[in-house]
Amino acid sequence: SAPKTISLSGRSYQTDDWYNVPPTIASSIARQLHVQKDHPISITRSIIESCFPASTYKRYNTFFPIVSTHENFDSLGFPADHPGRSKTDTYYVNKDTVLRTHTSAHQADTFALNQSPGFLISADVYRRDAIDRTHYPIFHQMEAARMWDRKKVPGGNIVQAVWDDIAALPTHDMIVEDPNPPMHAERNPLQEGKHTHDEAEAIAAHLKRSLELVVVEIFSRAKKAAIAANPNFVDEPLRVRWVEAYFPFTTPSWELEIFWQGDWLEVLGSGVVKQDIMEKAGVPSQVGWAFGMGLERISMLLFEIPDIRLFWSQDERFLGQFKGVSENMDKLKRFVPFSKFPACYKDVAFWLRSSSSSAGGGIRANAQDFHENDIMEIVRDIGGDAVEDVTQVDEFTHPKTGRKSLCYRINYRSLERTLTNEEANEYHERVRTELVNKLGVELR
Ligand code: PHE
Repeated sequence: SAPKTISLSGRSYQTDDWYNVPPTIASSIARQLHVQKDHPISITRSIIESCFPASTYKRYNTFFPIVSTHENFDSLGFPADHPGRSKTDTYYVNKDTVLRTHTSAHQADTFALNQSPGFLISADVYRRDAIDRTHYPIFHQMEAARMWDRKKVPGGNIVQAVWDDIAALPTHDMIVEDPNPPMHAERNPLQEGKHTHDEAEAIAAHLKRSLELVVVEIFSRAKKAAIAANPNFVDEPLRVRWVEAYFPFTTPSWELEIFWQGDWLEVLGSGVVKQDIMEKAGVPSQVGWAFGMGLERISMLLFEIPDIRLFWSQDERFLGQFKGVSENMDKLKRFVPFSKFPACYKDVAFWLRSSSSSAGGGIRANAQDFHENDIMEIVRDIGGDAVEDVTQVDEFTHPKTGRKSLCYRINYRSLERTLTNEEANEYHERVRTELVNKLGVELR
């Protein structure tokens, strides 16, 4: 396809055959939910911000969502073949330009700005993904970092400086499961030659305490709201745990998980910033930590919001429930679901083209390069937020021909009104047609 110029969020871009941003995504970029007054994502952002003093942590809430692959991946040390770079996972504007997949895309530049010992960045982020009650291709993250400068701390003693700062933080009595040592030679290594063991240990302790205080704050607000809604509310003891993790730009690294409604929910990734990122940013004498937290998940457990699509609702029955909270956080209430409209399930079954077939220039859906996100996107593009979820219900390989057949179940249900069967059928017919047109499958 010939290159053409398109306009996204008021800037123009030259597209190429990497372009894969569907219209529903392009038009949602303008929403910026994290800075909309009284929106639950924005309220969640301010509660987290309140845990980090503005005098130390400078706030950045308006970084532009379209970034270079250098910012999103290369500056953070993502290898060339990292799966996160693939077109099936990431929205590309052109070969070198993406909708940011995480707020970490701004880490290197913000380190280079060097305006404060710490920072908080909140922003919309974009990932091609499955559709269900907890996944949506646009969500919001808050990134934070805290640095100490070897040239500025007394006697160049980072360890002492960090422990002094930890001593100045509030304490808490939440029970935290943290069974692993702060670093481990194979599983979660120290940056040899860049940080001493004691430095990494102190930085990790500051990071963990800072984040535990966020969890304590969120849950004390959630508990107050729960008691206001139901005076007989009995809260279960909060369970949180630190888990060893891997990110290309931190080491050692951890995730924090919260036990919620019967499952461990991952709410953030974090770690000691790799020193070469500081070096490339022109601040080689600084050492510190960074984390990236998902705002939707925190917001869902804070307000008891049952479905991630609700954040995108313009319905007053949703938005009206958060009015005035920005001015007075004590007005924070649990979300009261409005009645659910009936679900309408429809199945679609099809054969993938056998992998030996070479037909169909540009159509990608033979068994080898088929990716589920392609189906998700077709369905979402047609049904929008009237699709509650899409799940694979059957998979079958023909014993003689070796051809593979898949069956998906789509649940059409609007959050805002009852869909008629005709409407659901119309959506479903269009989905069937597009599966053939875009993916080259054969309907069964
Ligand atoms: N950017 C990472 C993610 O989206 C999270 C992260 C941020 C991890 C900062 C470490 C440090 O998964």
